[in-house]
Amino acid sequence: MVEWRSVFVTVAIILLCFFAIPIKISNVEHVEERAMFDSFMRKYNKSYPANSEEYETRFKIFQEALEQIKTLNSHQDDSSPTVFYGITKFADINRKEFDDKYLTYEHKNNSHGRRRVLMRHNGHERSNRPKRSIGDGLPRHIDWRDKGYVSKIKNQKTCGACWAFSTIGVIESMVAMKTGVLKTFSTQEIIDCARYGNMGCDGGDTCNLLQWLVDNDVGIQEEKEYPLLLKTGTCKLKQPTKGVHVASNFSCDYLVGEENTLLALLAYHGPVAVAVNALTWQYYLGGVIQFHCEGGLESLNHAVQLVGYNLDGTPPYYIARNSWGTSFGEKGYLKIAIGSNVCGVASEVAALDVLT
Ligand SMILES: *[C@@H]1O[C@H](CO)[C@@H](O)[C@H](O)[C@H]1NC(C)=O
Ligand SMILES: *[C@@H]1O[C@H](CO)[C@@H](O)[C@H](O)[C@H]1NC(C)=O
Ligand SMILES: *[C@@H]1O[C@H](CO)[C@@H](O)[C@H](O)[C@H]1NC(C)=O
Repeated sequence: MVEWRSVFVTVAIILLCFFAIPIKISNVEHVEERAMFDSFMRKYNKSYPANSEEYETRFKIFQEALEQIKTLNSHQDDSSPTVFYGITKFADINRKEFDDKYLTYEHKNNSHGRRRVLMRHNGHERSNRPKRSIGDGLPRHIDWRDKGYVSKIKNQKTCGACWAFSTIGVIESMVAMKTGVLKTFSTQEIIDCARYGNMGCDGGDTCNLLQWLVDNDVGIQEEKEYPLLLKTGTCKLKQPTKGVHVASNFSCDYLVGEENTLLALLAYHGPVAVAVNALTWQYYLGGVIQFHCEGGLESLNHAVQLVGYNLDGTPPYYIARNSWGTSFGEKGYLKIAIGSNVCGVASEVAALDVLT
């Protein structure tokens, strides 16, 4: 009896050695990544129980994120990288989860929004025009935040209403520019009420929203009158025409290859809402995005407000206000290079005026 037990123990120890060695090696390999993951969990208050399946799943995603971050940070001039990617609050979700939760912009061809895509820019017209370089004759630097015309960064969390946040941001800026008073208007009203294919927290399109506001003479209330819930609910407007109105001559332009027009809008008209491809923003920490941000119409999946630009930046850049909280990017903002439709920034540009 005793003998058998000691044989068993010996076998067990031998087995343990064989198995323990490879386990130990793989642990050593990932020790640094695990430490990074643990510090990520502490920083963002995530609680995946140690040794649980969920912990391992999230850790695996985190390791993949580290690989992607490495790729995103490559292809830059090492002596002076212009942008920095790294671990963000989104480092434990995979691309599909990020896409589903945060990238819900629905680029609509032209079902409702009036889009001046082909009207303005045919090849003939363009070839007759003298070629100007980017920013010629424009102010070198515009930042509407300096004038106090841009409200605090908002956080859409997992409500995919970027189309409403970006448009309300522009409306707030245009009201402030006109009246001198910066007020917060109701994004929730838009989430609950806007039609023309818009679907509240499940996605929407800025140009369709503007067309719907104008066609129906809808007034936008202040946020304190119609508070933010970040859930799609029934429309609670009792007096739909009360509040600030968007003037009927809003514009929705395709300005690819015409970024001087976009710069001029920013300089002489005010902030605009733009559709973008935000796939790589999952790991954006700061700096000017120049690469790894394709801008084709099919890739548009998010919308932000542009609040200015800097032609003296290296490279020159737009200043974009996002709606993912202040912990995203540069205190909620990011910089996108001017001139080659980076992230699709010139694909769908909405400018508007307000009637107060
Ligand atoms: C951290 O998360 C827990 C549970 O998810 C929550 O109860 C707590 O308030 C959070 N703390 C902070 C500082 O966010
Ligand atoms: C948008 O328009 C293009 C060209 O007219 C067409 O090929 C494409 O299928 C349309 N997409 C949608 C979603 O309607
Ligand atoms: C709308 O019309 C007004 C008055 O003519 C003009 O000042 C403004 O720039 C126009 N707005 C847009 C977005 O085109």
